[in-house]
Amino acid sequence: MSVPRHGAQSCDVLMTTLSRMCGIIGYVGTKSAEDIVLEGLRRMEYRGYDSAGIALVAVDGLVTAKKAGKLANLEKALADQPLPPATTGLGHTRWATHGPPVDRNAHPHVSADRKAAVVHNGIIENFGALRSELERAGLELSSDTDTEVVAHLLAAAHAAQTGPDAGRLAAAMRAVCLRLEGSFSLVTVHADHPGQVVGARRNQPLVGGIGDGEYFLGSDVSAFIAHTRDALELGQDQVVTLDVEHGVTVTDFAGTPVQPKRFYVDWDAAAAEKGGYAWFMLKEIDEQPAAIADTLRGRLSETGQIVLDEVRLSDEDLRDIDKVFIVACGTANHAAMVAKYAIEHWTRLPCEVELASEFRYRDPVLDRSTLVIAISQSGETMDTLMALRHAKDQRARVLAICNTNGSTIPRESDAVLYTRAGPEVAVASTKAFLAQLAACYLVALYLAQARGTKYADEIAAIVAQLNMLPDAVADTLGRMDQVRAIGRELAKEPTILFVGRHVGYPIALEGALKLKELAYIHAEGFAAGELKHGYISLIEEGTPVVTVIPARGRNSVHSKVISNIQEMRARGAKTIVIAADGDDEVAPYADHLIYVPTTPTLLAPVLTAIPMQVLACEIADIRGLDVDQPRNLAKSVTVE
Ligand code: G6P
Repeated sequence: MSVPRHGAQSCDVLMTTLSRMCGIIGYVGTKSAEDIVLEGLRRMEYRGYDSAGIALVAVDGLVTAKKAGKLANLEKALADQPLPPATTGLGHTRWATHGPPVDRNAHPHVSADRKAAVVHNGIIENFGALRSELERAGLELSSDTDTEVVAHLLAAAHAAQTGPDAGRLAAAMRAVCLRLEGSFSLVTVHADHPGQVVGARRNQPLVGGIGDGEYFLGSDVSAFIAHTRDALELGQDQVVTLDVEHGVTVTDFAGTPVQPKRFYVDWDAAAAEKGGYAWFMLKEIDEQPAAIADTLRGRLSETGQIVLDEVRLSDEDLRDIDKVFIVACGTANHAAMVAKYAIEHWTRLPCEVELASEFRYRDPVLDRSTLVIAISQSGETMDTLMALRHAKDQRARVLAICNTNGSTIPRESDAVLYTRAGPEVAVASTKAFLAQLAACYLVALYLAQARGTKYADEIAAIVAQLNMLPDAVADTLGRMDQVRAIGRELAKEPTILFVGRHVGYPIALEGALKLKELAYIHAEGFAAGELKHGYISLIEEGTPVVTVIPARGRNSVHSKVISNIQEMRARGAKTIVIAADGDDEVAPYADHLIYVPTTPTLLAPVLTAIPMQVLACEIADIRGLDVDQPRNLAKSVTVE
């Protein structure tokens, strides 16, 4: 295997290292570890699909296989060259934006004595120094990654142990973790410990699973959901040992035992399977009525109070709040933009929305009376987590809207409202987005209730409107043949524009994002009022423009957007318009008019987002693209 020269590797290695986030799994039990690891990787492939690998502790020692490209490449290699049977093993699926996703950089990485195999998610920031140390000791490293140093350090620590720790894999892992800077979740197996898997975590996701005589580790519960729904939360700076005879032991990095929190996963394996759909995204779009209904269920107590899932704030804390920030990334940020309208309107609190990746760098003005709401499907997005921690450092209160129980963002928040969308596998977020919108409305009402800006009967009336959304979403989904036909018509367009106003503006941004990420078509979303300030120059004969018309409840903006559509059409635009049932004013200016059910203005995004999702999905499919795993992306972005 080639040994890269130290100087020559720096840029690529650095970028490879800095941009990694991956899916990792460990298994120990009585079944075929290969089958279980591969199945777990299949379910986690949405986390990254640049390479995949597996290591097993077989009778004759450690065996590994790894391949660049999608998991299918590894599966083919294993079919051609089967590994020996084993009941202990681990696996990895990787994502990188830069640097070569080649076989030698795929995980697992193995120590020089070929006894320890390691998979990793995160960044070892001091790997350069550690690598030099290993090289000075005469070791030849065989990959460009930071992870490989962990494998060598681990084997060395294991071999060097004396006293009560002698020969203990977990103790070796603790010793190594104390030397690592950066963020990591690590899983290791060792040839001398055929019945053990050891994991460690700092600022990267890792959860445990407890089956019947078998134990699992995974980046998320989907890794083992087919086998058990009994899960373990692992905290920061903890090392976990799964032992087929002695069960699960967790300690901190100093070796002090800790009691992990158990939780039950409230969805099953079927929820994370395609169930006959061509794409996960299609299935997840269809699951949206249930995602919203489940998110709304039981939120109004018998005494008419909105209830969150976890609240570590007093009513007084909430009453003291005088400003709200919402931080999120990608699609979740578009939910945040919609939330701003509801929060300001219902609570009269000023509310700012900020991309999580920008938030802490502009030194926002925060104090104890600021509420920072973090929205995240995964609960692990590093940008959002860092924004949340910055807010906490400034003593702000933090509330999380999250789809993943046991993930880091809700655990570090003062209050939590879980979206109950179930597992979302397609990289492009759909049902989690609609559930986030529903959750945002609930949080806005919760704040209105705590601050007394709405009476209980007013809140109940809005909750009743929210409860009508699942049916309205189902109704909208039933109308999507027309949108698919429009998708077929637009599939070859080089550019598609998306326009909205008021709560339709974030939906225009979401429509453009969906099209970019899935269909690789140039798309721009913008506020209708900005047309005349620049965007209208983009319009040529035949340029498709998708416009969300505001509900007629907002008469002034409704008529302005209709004027905008006329202006665009006059310059040759092909106009595709999304409007509420019965809104026929725009009909003369629409080449295609997509109706969604009528709903109160603030709630309309829940419906107008749906044609955007279907359009992007259809166009990507027609263009022969991988709808669920678009190029260069990953679902869970656990590095900054
Ligand atoms: C990635 C995904 C998006 C998602 C964003 C935020 O970019 O591709 O679909 O909206 O991360 O993820 P989160 O898990 O924090 O909602």
